[in-house]
Amino acid sequence: MQLLLMGPPGAGKGTQAAELVKKFDIPHISTGDMLRAAVKEGTELGKQAKVVMDAGGLVSDEIIIGIVKERLTKDDCKKGFILDGFPRTVEQADALSKILEELGIKLTRVLNIHVPAEDLIERAVGRRICKKCGATYHVKFNPTQKDGICDNCGGDLYQRGDDNAETMGNRLAAYEKSTRPLIEYYQKVGIYTEIDGRKPIDKVTEELISVLVK
Ligand code: AP5
Ligand code: MG
Ligand code: ZN
Repeated sequence: MQLLLMGPPGAGKGTQAAELVKKFDIPHISTGDMLRAAVKEGTELGKQAKVVMDAGGLVSDEIIIGIVKERLTKDDCKKGFILDGFPRTVEQADALSKILEELGIKLTRVLNIHVPAEDLIERAVGRRICKKCGATYHVKFNPTQKDGICDNCGGDLYQRGDDNAETMGNRLAAYEKSTRPLIEYYQKVGIYTEIDGRKPIDKVTEELISVLVK
């Protein structure tokens, strides 16, 4: 199963990808997570990406396409994958088609988690992530049992540097300008499904799975 999870910043892509990994046992490929790992390691890519990410802009297509191509050719992707946060521009979508053609595979489905803009800033600003295992929480919508401590592993929680109202404004603008056109792009291909992302997390998961196991 080759899946693409789309949706604006804070829509719930990472949260839902974690559930789909449990259900279908295929790797979760998040370009945002890969970039944050590079920032943490302090690589040249990480240094360049950090400036762009902190401002809420998009990292260049060339860099992102290179990273994804390398990742998709790894052995674990032979059983399928969940792409999250890529493609984000028409150029990236065209590059993905080419990569998949070379690999002799096709996208099974493009799932767009739809959440209205007015909800997204609250989701991002309230997001907390575990330093140790990467689990995602929300102070209001998905709180941990103990404040600041991960339920899964007891790790400390942190807030992403780009999860503030100001940067979110830029991330949402980048989404509108560069990523929203991909809805029509994949509608034309005929593999596009929209999911109502305003429902509680477990309901959204149920809907995603029901589309996939049909
Ligand atoms: P990336 O990490 O991909 O960020 P994003 O697209 O902005 O999406 P988020 O990770 O913020 O949100 P999400 O949809 O995963 O939501 P989550 O599940 O965490 O990219 C970061 C940056 O990297 C970009 O800005 C860009 O600079 C760069 N980048 C990455 N990919 C790139 C590319 N392809 N090209 C160029 N640049 C790229 O949920 C959010 C919160 O809401 C959580 O707190 C969660 O608990 C809560 N929540 C989730 N679902 C629900 C629900 N149903 N109800 C209530 N709360 C919910
Ligand atoms: Mg995410
Ligand atoms: Zn944890």
